Amino acid sequence: MPSVSRREFLLLGVATGAVAAVGVVVPLSIATKDSFGNGDGTDSTMPGAVVAVFPKVRVASLSALREAEPVIFDYPLAGQSNVLVKLGEPAMGGTGPDGDIVGFSRICTHMGCTLPEYRHEHKVLGPCPCHFTTFDLIHGGQVSLGQATQNLPQLLLTIEGDDIYATGVVRLIYGFADNLQGAQRVGGTT
Ligand code: FES
Repeated sequence: MPSVSRREFLLLGVATGAVAAVGVVVPLSIATKDSFGNGDGTDSTMPGAVVAVFPKVRVASLSALREAEPVIFDYPLAGQSNVLVKLGEPAMGGTGPDGDIVGFSRICTHMGCTLPEYRHEHKVLGPCPCHFTTFDLIHGGQVSLGQATQNLPQLLLTIEGDDIYATGVVRLIYGFADNLQGAQRVGGTT
């Protein structure tokens, strides 16, 4: 199982019920072995849960990322648009040398319109063209104005050398019962 950094742990902890939000499969059976390593790998009587693993996808170069110049990409499924941005000040869930690099879904949590614009002067995404909701990227994508009642899904990000990877999503993306089901996954390694 991949290790989880403190930042990722905190982000996951912030989202109550985050396990459900990031795409959980609850099977009728789970693979299991006892503490001695015995067993055939399946226990059909024991209930359990398997957490779906998000793909790890490179989304940008750290050295090429400029403050106030957002990068747009789909993750984890095709059509799930996101924005990666260097805010210029430390942010909740921010990564990078200055703790100011964040990634968020661009799909509005009110009714699913695409949020077209990052406004650097206020460090917000929005207003949404449909009903004007605006989301605060410094404070975890919380609603700062408008109709939506839920914060934007925030990406888990990992930096390795000069590469920035998306490694997960906290909160459910609008229109999806499971962040990992319903369309083709964006390519990557798990
Ligand atoms: Fe964005 Fe309604 S869809 S505010």
